[in-house]
Amino acid sequence: MKIGLLGFGVVGKGVYDLVKERTDMQVVKVLCRRDLTLPDAEVTHNFDTILNDSTIDTVVETMGGLHPAYDYVRAAIEAGKNVITANKALVATFYDELLPLTEGKNVMLRCTAAAGGGIGWLSELERALRIQVIQQVSGIMNGTCNYILDSMTRLGLTYTDALTKAQSLGYAEADPTTDIDGIDTWHKLILSANVAFHISIEKDTIPVAGIRHIKASDIDNFKAHGLVCKLVATGKQNGDSVSAYVQPTLVPMGAPESAVPANCNRIAFTGSVSGPMSFFGQGAGRYPTAYNVVQDCADVLSGKGFYCSYGHKLPAVNQDSLCYYVSGSKDAWLQENCRETWGNAVVTKSVTVEAMHKWLSDHPGTFIAALPVSTS
Ligand SMILES: NC(=O)c1ccc[n+]([C@@H]2O[C@H](COP(=O)([O-])OP(=O)(O)OC[C@H]3O[C@@H](n4cnc5c(N)ncnc54)[C@H](OP(=O)(O)O)[C@@H]3O)[C@@H](O)[C@H]2O)c1
Repeated sequence: MKIGLLGFGVVGKGVYDLVKERTDMQVVKVLCRRDLTLPDAEVTHNFDTILNDSTIDTVVETMGGLHPAYDYVRAAIEAGKNVITANKALVATFYDELLPLTEGKNVMLRCTAAAGGGIGWLSELERALRIQVIQQVSGIMNGTCNYILDSMTRLGLTYTDALTKAQSLGYAEADPTTDIDGIDTWHKLILSANVAFHISIEKDTIPVAGIRHIKASDIDNFKAHGLVCKLVATGKQNGDSVSAYVQPTLVPMGAPESAVPANCNRIAFTGSVSGPMSFFGQGAGRYPTAYNVVQDCADVLSGKGFYCSYGHKLPAVNQDSLCYYVSGSKDAWLQENCRETWGNAVVTKSVTVEAMHKWLSDHPGTFIAALPVSTS
C-alpha cells in the first residue's frame, strides 16, 4: 500500500511512525502547511501532487476540519484511491455524499479512529452486525468532557480550573467549544447510529446538550444523591424508528460508567444475540488513535470497505420520557413540571427528551442532566 498522508500533526505523525515499522505499507508523500523534511517521504504543500501520483493507492486524512478535507477526500475517491480518515466531523457531515460515492467503485473508505479514537469501536460494531441486530449504542465518547467532569467530581475542581487543567495537559483545545458543547460526541453518535442501525440519520433531529454551564454546586447536589454526572450519547432502535440524543446524564455511584476515569471513553452496544457489550479505552491520543488508522490500512489491504452499505434517511424521534435536573433558569413551564428541588435546582417530573431540549434551546445558560431511568 502506497500512502499519501494528509496532515502531520498529533495523529498524522503517529501514523507515519507506525507505518515506518511495516513492510506492507509505506507513506510516500505527506501534505502539511509548515516546512518539514522527512528522510523517506516527500513533503508537499500541494494536494495535487498526491492526487496526481498514480503510485499512491490510499489517502490517509488526518488534517481535521471540513474544508479542504472534504474536497481532498472526495477528489481522492473519484480518482480511485482508498480513503482512511480519523475525521469524525467530516464523515458525520458528509455521510450522504461520501458513502454513495464509494459504492460500485473498487474504493474503500474507513474511519475507525473517528469514533472512540483508540477503541476500535466501529470495527467492533461491524463484527457485531454480522450475526445480530443492534438495538442500542450508547456511552461516554468524549475524553475532554469526561476529564472535566471526573476532575470536578473526584478532585473537587471548579469547571474553569478543570478545563484549564485539561488544556494544559493537551486533553482540551484552546477553543474547547466542540468538546464541551457536545458537538464531538454528536458526530460520533451520528456515525455509530448510522452503522449500527443501517440508516443515515437526519443530523438536525439529534438534540445535543453539553457541559459548559455545570457548576461545583451541581456536583455537590449529585454527590448528595449518590449520583455522578457524565456526558452520554444514546441511540436506540424502536421498531421502525430511532431515537438519538446527547446530554449530561446522572449515573448511580458504583455503576460502571461512574468509574470511567480521566480522559477515557466507555462505549457500549446492546445486540439481539450478545446482549450488552462495552468497550473501554483511550478515546484520543497520538498512538492509540494512529493504531486504529493503521488497523484501517491493514483492513483495506485485506479488502474491507466501509462498515455497512449506505442506509435510508431517517429522522430521530425522541419521545423517551425522563426526569431532568435543571439549574440556572426557572420559568412557568419548569414550575409546572417540577417534581422536587435540590438546593436551587429543579428536578422535573417525567418529560420527553424532545420537550426538555426544546425548552433548553429557549434558555441558554442553563445546565440540564437526565436522571437515571430507575429514578425517573
Ligand atoms: N488528536 C486526537 O487524539 C484525535 C483522536 C481521534 C480523532 N482525531 C481526528 O484526527 C484529525 C486530526 O487531528 P490532530 O489532533 O492530529 O490535528 P492537528 O494536530 O492539528 O494536525 C493537523 C495537521 O493537518 C495539517 N493541516 C491542517 N489543515 C491543512 C491544510 N489546509 N493543508 C495542509 N495541511 C493542513 C496541519 O499542518 P500544519 O501543522 O503544517 O499546519 C497539521 O499537520 C481530526 O479530524 C481529529 O478530529 C484526533
